[in-house]
Amino acid sequence: PTGQLTDTRGRPLRDLRISVTDRCNFRCNYCMPKEVFDKDYPYLPHGALLNFEEITRLARLFLAHGVRKIRLTGGEPLLRKNLEDLVAQLAQLRTVDGVAPDLTLTTNGSLLARKAKALKDAGLNRVTVSLDGLDDAVFRRMNDVDFPVADVLAGIEAAHAAGLSHIKVNMVVKRGTNDHEILPMARHFRGTGTTLRFIEYMDVGATNGWRMDEVLPSAELIERLRAELPLVQLSPNNPGETAERWGYANAQGQYDPPLGEVGVISSVTQAFCHDCNRARLSTEGKLYLCLFASEGYDLRTLLRGGASDEAIASAIAPIWQQRGDRYSELRSSLPADTTPGGARRVEMSYIGG
Ligand code: GTP
Ligand code: 5AD
Ligand code: SF4
Ligand code: SF4
Repeated sequence: PTGQLTDTRGRPLRDLRISVTDRCNFRCNYCMPKEVFDKDYPYLPHGALLNFEEITRLARLFLAHGVRKIRLTGGEPLLRKNLEDLVAQLAQLRTVDGVAPDLTLTTNGSLLARKAKALKDAGLNRVTVSLDGLDDAVFRRMNDVDFPVADVLAGIEAAHAAGLSHIKVNMVVKRGTNDHEILPMARHFRGTGTTLRFIEYMDVGATNGWRMDEVLPSAELIERLRAELPLVQLSPNNPGETAERWGYANAQGQYDPPLGEVGVISSVTQAFCHDCNRARLSTEGKLYLCLFASEGYDLRTLLRGGASDEAIASAIAPIWQQRGDRYSELRSSLPADTTPGGARRVEMSYIGG
């Protein structure tokens, strides 16, 4: 069974986000708060992780079902040993159109200066780096392991130098914590070819103590930016994209491409479930259909039980076809930390953003 899968709401399966580790060397409070993710936290044992051959095999089957983009996530994906070997295997795969999939990675940047060249050589197309501010004290507090801004900036530089194109920077915005860093970040990346994207702080997982009053709505953020830097809205690059795009404008109010663009990801105030085309493969090989799910579908048992490609592909198809998730559209009517079914949500570091 091959060809483009669609779900109960007519949404195609286009992106596969693969988590390669549930561990991270940062402790961002909105994702892996120190009090929860301490030395006693039950991370997955090594044998539970899919190996690179297993990941590549599943990725091939997902591509046959219509996937066009593969994103490696975590935790921090660059903590996974020899990740470039996985990239090299994935780069050999082809979509249903016979072209290479868009192969990308979301990283905290801490190991990027060391790894960028090997990743590019292995066939990685692009990279997205998380950075929550330019002020060193603010950033060290947010990553909660005292990691300096300069090292992340060096990672971004190395990615440019290695020839990775379309580099993006993700900044999670928390009102009262780093919202004063919005303009400095915008000024810094404007005109550099790196696209900065502001993410509304989300209620992912069940441990980050999310509160609505710490969310800065994207509409307010755009107004703050515009007061200093003129912007015009741009149309989406791809259907179902997470970010809304805004281009920097010239004195005539027209988009000025050399100045570049910013994006806003507004999962809280403007849900984008209506065309969500993303599936997630957890570190241990469970398929999750929504970032806010509580349960996944175990594919590892099939892989390790000797199932054929056909059997695995036939197991995947109905899972997507029966999907009806739209958590962000329902959020305001649900109790905290739960799914529409009332269960406790999985953590983002495990499911992979
Ligand atoms: P591009 O290929 O650059 O468009 O990447 P992306 O935006 O799909 O992925 P990235 O890893 O950069 O994620 C950006 C932010 O969007 C992160 O905070 C993710 O957790 C969030 N995000 C990604 N996909 C979804 C989704 O399906 N639903 C929600 N609510 N948030 C998402
Ligand atoms: N809300 C919004 N974005 C988050 N991320 C991690 N946790 C949250 C949260 N609670 C971001 C990371 C990374 C991306 C994959 O998800 O900063 O850029
Ligand atoms: Fe690590 Fe990224 Fe989570 Fe921060 S947001 S703790 S860098 S996985
Ligand atoms: Fe997709 Fe779930 Fe995010 Fe909605 S909340 S966009 S359905 S992953």
